[in-house]
Amino acid sequence: MTTATAVAHPNIALVKYWGKADASLALPATGSVSMGLDVFPTTTTVTVGAAEDTLTLNGAATTDGALVRVTQFLDLVRDLAGSSDRAAVVSDNTVPTGAGLASSASGFAALATAAAAAYGLDLSPRDLSRLARRGSGSATRSIPGGVAVWHAGDDQGSYAEPVPAPPMAMVVVTIDAGPKPIGSREAMRRTIATSPFYPAWVTSTTETVTDMLTACAAGDFTRIGELTESNALRMHATIEGAFPPIRYLTARSVAVFDAVAGLRADGLQAWATADAGPNVVVLTTPEDRGAVAAALAGYGDVIESGTGPGAHLLRSEDTEAPGPGVVRPEESAE
Ligand code: PMV
Repeated sequence: MTTATAVAHPNIALVKYWGKADASLALPATGSVSMGLDVFPTTTTVTVGAAEDTLTLNGAATTDGALVRVTQFLDLVRDLAGSSDRAAVVSDNTVPTGAGLASSASGFAALATAAAAAYGLDLSPRDLSRLARRGSGSATRSIPGGVAVWHAGDDQGSYAEPVPAPPMAMVVVTIDAGPKPIGSREAMRRTIATSPFYPAWVTSTTETVTDMLTACAAGDFTRIGELTESNALRMHATIEGAFPPIRYLTARSVAVFDAVAGLRADGLQAWATADAGPNVVVLTTPEDRGAVAAALAGYGDVIESGTGPGAHLLRSEDTEAPGPGVVRPEESAE
């Protein structure tokens, strides 16, 4: 029996992923760029050798769709490892689940890292991010952490890697930690099928990825912020163009966008973004993050984050193997 424990953090996209080019391989229609957080870690332990696949999420045995997704993901890992062994998965997730803060990103990045080790796979960071991609698109970018680009491409070419960027921080304004009205998978499908703005989203986001990488390399924080806020609003406009329409931003979300514009007028670096939910995340600098957090405290629960680490193993052991220095019976028989 082999067990491995890994930790991963969520990431927030500066240039968003919204739409797949190939659903079965989880290939995105465009590239995307994100900042990994240093808050809301997910810690996941995978123990190979169970009677059946099980999932314990935040202390509770889970048998619904979450277990189905985990089992499908473990099937991919088993294929790579040439194993048919079932596994027990225990995951502690500190992200407000389903609140549009991409709990699936840290969740599948931690699961990919722990499962690969528990099944004895020795994957490069690139291959680990390709594997995480199959669990949830945004999880691809939680493997490297930091500021990362996830490339569009074919199965081999669609992975995430770190990019050079100036120091960044974020302020997460949680307006509503409840489940979102419609999950990102279904909402992406509907956007592609019905939003007349979707082709323009793909064209413009492809250009924005290039512009964002240029701004990051140049250390041009203001340009990074402008591109971040504009890309988020373009994503939400594209989603709102679906039929039936999907609207994630609420009046309170929009109020935070207005407040952030006011902070900029006061001379702070503050740029708003939002994922598939009502919560707003403000991109700022390490110098300005305290002032931004204080100014937004009245709008919801406010949490500051620096740039976080990539997914990593906490421990990995073969619980049936003898420890170092122990002589195996077959060796002692020689
Ligand atoms: O892969 P998912 O289902 O977590 O989709 C992520 C979609 C957004 O969070 C809205 C954008 C992004 O790039 O993270």
